[in-house]
Amino acid sequence: MKKYIAIALIAAGTAAFAHSGVKDPDVMNRMMGMSELAKQMKAIGSMAKGQTTFDPEALNAALGKISEEAGYIPSLFENKALDPKSEALPVIWDNFDTFTARATDLEEISGGLVGTIQTSTDLGPAMQQIGKACSACHADFRAK
Ligand code: HEC
Repeated sequence: MKKYIAIALIAAGTAAFAHSGVKDPDVMNRMMGMSELAKQMKAIGSMAKGQTTFDPEALNAALGKISEEAGYIPSLFENKALDPKSEALPVIWDNFDTFTARATDLEEISGGLVGTIQTSTDLGPAMQQIGKACSACHADFRAK
């Protein structure tokens, strides 16, 4: 019995290990939010590459999650929380309106794609559109 509890704890902890050393809970939360975005993009990417079968339902769910998570970005970054492990640039809080607008762009682009993609060949252009919205924000607000 004890053994199973230990295994469950390890499984629950793996996501946090990727960000080990981050002490600030706000920083941790926004990193987890970003990781969630990356996870959904990966799922769409593997459909685009044919590594997983094209599944419109799973695709729309992934697009919807990206849009939903993008909607959380402004609140995840509301506190000017800094951490030595963070890649967030302080300029975020000098230009919070622009930062928020970039999050809204991602929210609208990914949300607008839900239900529009019928074949796997359309996945590439869709990913490019979304990827541009990610990098538009990273370019100005994330340290490289
Ligand atoms: C509105 C701005 C914004 C948008 C849009 C955005 N990001 Fe980010 N992203 C950031 C910032 C700022 C950081 C740095 C956070 C930190 O280290 O505290 C970051 C960090 C990340 C990280 C590293 C997280 C970690 O564990 O340290 C990943 C991965 C990431 N973003 C993926 C994405 C993907 C994929 C998209 C698009 C689907 C996206 N982001 C859209 C601002 C944004």
